[in-house]
Amino acid sequence: MNMNSIENKVALITGGSKGIGYGVAAALLLKGVNVAVTSRNETAAKKAAETLNNSIDSEAIAIGVAADVRDFDSQKLAVKMVESKFGKLDVLIANAGLGKFGSIEDLSIEDWNAVIDTNLTGVFYSAKAGVEALKTSKGYFITISSLAGTNFFAGGAAYNASKFGVTGFTQAVMLDLRKYGVKVSTIMPGSVSTYFNNNEPSEKDAWKIQIEDIGKLVVDLLEMHPRTLPSKIEVRPTTPPSK
Ligand SMILES: NC(=O)c1ccc[n+]([C@@H]2O[C@H](COP(=O)([O-])OP(=O)(O)OC[C@H]3O[C@@H](n4cnc5c(N)ncnc54)[C@H](OP(=O)(O)O)[C@@H]3O)[C@@H](O)[C@H]2O)c1
Repeated sequence: MNMNSIENKVALITGGSKGIGYGVAAALLLKGVNVAVTSRNETAAKKAAETLNNSIDSEAIAIGVAADVRDFDSQKLAVKMVESKFGKLDVLIANAGLGKFGSIEDLSIEDWNAVIDTNLTGVFYSAKAGVEALKTSKGYFITISSLAGTNFFAGGAAYNASKFGVTGFTQAVMLDLRKYGVKVSTIMPGSVSTYFNNNEPSEKDAWKIQIEDIGKLVVDLLEMHPRTLPSKIEVRPTTPPSK
């Protein structure tokens, strides 16, 4: 897609109430992109949008939408709301996700289903709900996978399965959609300072990637020349703490 200038574009970010999704929303707003952020919780979605609008000086606006990625109808409704508010959808970022960790002996059925339903099926539902709008706009679909989508570790059975799935899913969708002029990329971060897995961002996270760094990465992708597509991006802290 031709996004050398991204001003006045329209983005939908799943799971934008906090963490990476919120950081990406802030970076896009700064560039004049109108943004919808979703959350399972309507109050959280609306509060995030209000904070973004109050803290960022931009002609563009943020709106908050309650939508659960585990529910396909809810994703379709979120896309509809964006189209009726802004008239189009240029950028869809499937970011919503969670982590449940434990060895196969301890991993519960509930935790397995929560991770797969949110991180993998939720990305599929988001893509499925947005694909026609993205074909119309010749837009951009970005997923937030993880380095856990290429590196496995003990205790990561559910999370690794979901993120290896997201990495493969996104690359296949990239091949499906590029003939329509729709760009598709997956970003695979290492540790990012967010609320993931009950973390509380603080000074102790200074070594981690910060949410504005992922925001900058998304802006760079959107501003990339139309002829070039970085389809799979690994990003990691430069200096992890020594063990
Ligand atoms: N932090 C890291 O180190 C790291 C590294 C690599 C990849 N990632 C990935 O980055 C993505 C974002 O995570 P984060 O680190 O920013 O975590 P976070 O701070 O916990 O934020 C997660 C976001 O996802 C939303 N969410 C969770 N379940 C949802 C659902 N069913 N429907 C809609 N929204 C939902 C949450 O909103 P509500 O709770 O308000 O519903 C929240 O906005 C995830 O896919 C994660 O796997 C994170």
